[in-house]
Amino acid sequence: MTIPETLTQNQPDRSAAADYRGKRVVISGGSSGIGLGIAQHLAALGAQVAILGRTQDKLDAATASIIAAGGHAAGFSVDVRDAAKVAETLAACREQHGEIDALIAAAAGNFFVPAAKMSANAFKTVIDIDLVGTFNVFSAALPLLRKPGASLIAITAPQAQRAMPLQAHACAAKAGIDMLVKCLALEWGALGVRVNAVSPGPIADTEGLSKLSASPEIETFVREATALKRFGKAEDIAQAVAFLCSAQAGYVTGSILDCDGGMRLGNFHSP
Ligand code: NAP
Ligand code: COA
Repeated sequence: MTIPETLTQNQPDRSAAADYRGKRVVISGGSSGIGLGIAQHLAALGAQVAILGRTQDKLDAATASIIAAGGHAAGFSVDVRDAAKVAETLAACREQHGEIDALIAAAAGNFFVPAAKMSANAFKTVIDIDLVGTFNVFSAALPLLRKPGASLIAITAPQAQRAMPLQAHACAAKAGIDMLVKCLALEWGALGVRVNAVSPGPIADTEGLSKLSASPEIETFVREATALKRFGKAEDIAQAVAFLCSAQAGYVTGSILDCDGGMRLGNFHSP
């Protein structure tokens, strides 16, 4: 069968699928868990990755794991709450490695606490790391991005869409991130920058899941709350990020890609 010419025109270049050679990608919170999984995956696809986090030992271990696998990685110690230091750090990344093709904001902090017992500083701490920190890295990156074609990705969570007990701070922060992504997509699209988010469900072997699953019973409850009845892997989130940053997603902006096994659907009454 002959494909009409109109259908073959203006199609994405699929030969470039999953090819990150020559791309420079920054991942805040890339020294452990999901962020590290994203960094390792994009480095395996050929990207030169820069990882931001607070703890030097974690940065060293993360970059060593990528370099041992044949990739290119550098670590930068910075707290995403410190806007001036974030700007300085990203400028150093740009200076050392060139224009940034994609930045993934994965840094976050969380703990379980009833709202009635949550101090003002506890609430502010999570808002500052998750929401303000995401704004800080995105806005500092904007002048350093390779435009057009650059991509910004926030890592959000099902908490943005569903109220959860003991999570008022994280729910508010992640809901703020979802709207921030849409607003920045609207304002920065004309500059050639796409802004999207990935919303992971419960991901095995991560700090986030261990904080959420204080006992084996709660862990089972969380797993059963997904439609797929299983935890995801960091690799699942990395695949979603790789797609959103690629040319194949060139017309996607302001979107929240749910990669959560159906967690947001709210199946909290399974047998
Ligand atoms: P994680 O292993 O604890 O990773 C958090 C990362 O952020 C680390 O690299 C950490 O390094 C860094 N970080 C924390 N606070 C920071 C700060 N103030 N400044 C700079 N870096 C900071 O967490 P995770 O469970 O993989 O979660 C990663 C992301 O996925 C988060 O956005 C989380 O909300 C989201 N998420 C996770 C799950 C899950 O099941 N795990 C589900 C939904 C969404 P340092 O501590 O050294 O700074
Ligand atoms: N329950 C109630 N309040 C808590 C708490 C808990 N489990 N843990 C911290 N807080 C409160 C503190 O008491 C403090 O408030 P106060 O000044 O009124 O006492 C406030 O939160 C800040 O705590 P602090 O320990 O100074 O924050 P930090 O900036 O050093 O660390 C955290 C931030 C607390 C989020 C820390 O857990 C962290 O760094 N987490 C990163 C890893 C992570 O959470 N990964 C999962 C990602 S989903």
